[in-house]
Amino acid sequence: MPATVLMGLQWGDEGKGKITDYLARSSDMVVRFGGGDNAGHTLKIGGEYFFNHLLPSGILYRNVKCVIGNGVVVNPDVLRKEILKIMEKGYSAENLCISDKCNIITEYHLALDAMSEKTNSRIGTTKRGIGPAYMDKIGRSGIRFCDIANGTYAEKLAEHLDYVNFILVKYYGGKAVRAQAAAEKLFKQYNALKKYVCRTEYLVNEYARKNKNILFEGAQGAFLDIDFGTYPFVTSSSTYPGGAVTGSGLPPKYITKVTGVVKAYTTRVGEGPFPTELKNADGEALRKKGGEYGTTTGRPRRTGWLDLFSLKYSVMLSGASNIALTKLDILSGFKTIKVATAYKIGRKLLEHFPSDAGMLGFAKPVYEELPGWKEDISGIKVFDDLPSNAKKYVKFIERYLGTPANIISSGAGRYNTIER
Ligand code: GDP
Ligand code: IMO
Ligand code: MG
Repeated sequence: MPATVLMGLQWGDEGKGKITDYLARSSDMVVRFGGGDNAGHTLKIGGEYFFNHLLPSGILYRNVKCVIGNGVVVNPDVLRKEILKIMEKGYSAENLCISDKCNIITEYHLALDAMSEKTNSRIGTTKRGIGPAYMDKIGRSGIRFCDIANGTYAEKLAEHLDYVNFILVKYYGGKAVRAQAAAEKLFKQYNALKKYVCRTEYLVNEYARKNKNILFEGAQGAFLDIDFGTYPFVTSSSTYPGGAVTGSGLPPKYITKVTGVVKAYTTRVGEGPFPTELKNADGEALRKKGGEYGTTTGRPRRTGWLDLFSLKYSVMLSGASNIALTKLDILSGFKTIKVATAYKIGRKLLEHFPSDAGMLGFAKPVYEELPGWKEDISGIKVFDDLPSNAKKYVKFIERYLGTPANIISSGAGRYNTIER
């Protein structure tokens, strides 16, 4: 049973990092397959926190191979700093392999992202250059590590910069990027990471053939997916299991399981519709208690009740056969807890999750109200030790989604986890 894809089923920040780290102890390989350093995955080991933007969240285990697959767009400076940081903490990155086909995020991608965020069509991006880097990838003008290795990049970069500088200067009124300086920088960046760069598609296939346990660590979430998310308020990559295939080179036949990570309530960062958003004291309480501030940008996350109607859609599209339910501890203390089970526009109940962000903006959630619990459940490791209303909440979710929550997280720490 070689490969499991773990992905967020909401708008990101579901706790994928924590669950990946927890599951990595029984994995042979952890693979990032999409996104870039827009991701911020938090691990808490003992009292120590780790914030992974590009490093796969299995990195703390020496014997777990960690792969940054070809689907990831890499800012080399961010990755190098992240490697140095874990080394300072006494860990090693010797188990890291980066695909030579990763497209590289350069300074001009950051500039383009920042400038487009000043326009009326802003998305509320992380300003990490993700959209522009994927545009270059799909437009076939990106630079990859292998282009630097074989020396073909400088000419290609100079030609593309003619176009980019036109946009930067004439359209946005910004500064041009000098081709030679940009090429020299790329070369230096590549040299700093060269020892980790390899043919990861061969490596993942070798692990699969040998029947080793491979864990794909999704980034972002279902509703940030470029196709099925709340377009255009999405990221620029495929966050679903299909992305794990194209973003790593592992054939789909090896993927035998999909685990969906679901936060016990909902959060979203950036612009875009969010039907169950709470702009009141309950929303503020969730943000405060849940520490809902972006791991990457520090922005306050928007908060709201759990949205089962949207989750039904992401469970269907992901094929998740089980759920890791996180941050249940944050719901302690609410007298009642609401859960959206349907959407209405006017008086009409919707049959499907809307394709159009504008339409979704008009959708009003239909709630069921469940009794809350007072007890602090932080760190509980056994399902039966949960208060009965917390158990009822979990069972309600399982029943609605038809998917067992066989992992429940009761705290940020690695072992604040219930398995059943
Ligand atoms: P990711 O992007 O999906 O990996 O999630 P983030 O790391 O961006 O955000 C999740 C936040 O919740 C982090 O601060 C985690 O340390 C924290 N966290 C994860 N699971 C739990 C949990 O069960 N309870 C609590 N209290 N915090 C959690
Ligand atoms: P993890 O992996 C939450 C959001 C941004 C913005 C939109 C597009 O930590 O769950 P981008 O920079 O990708 O072009 O921004 O996507 N976004 C995330 N939100 N968690 C993330 O990653 C995100 N990565 C991108 O806030 O709305
Ligand atoms: Mg995050």
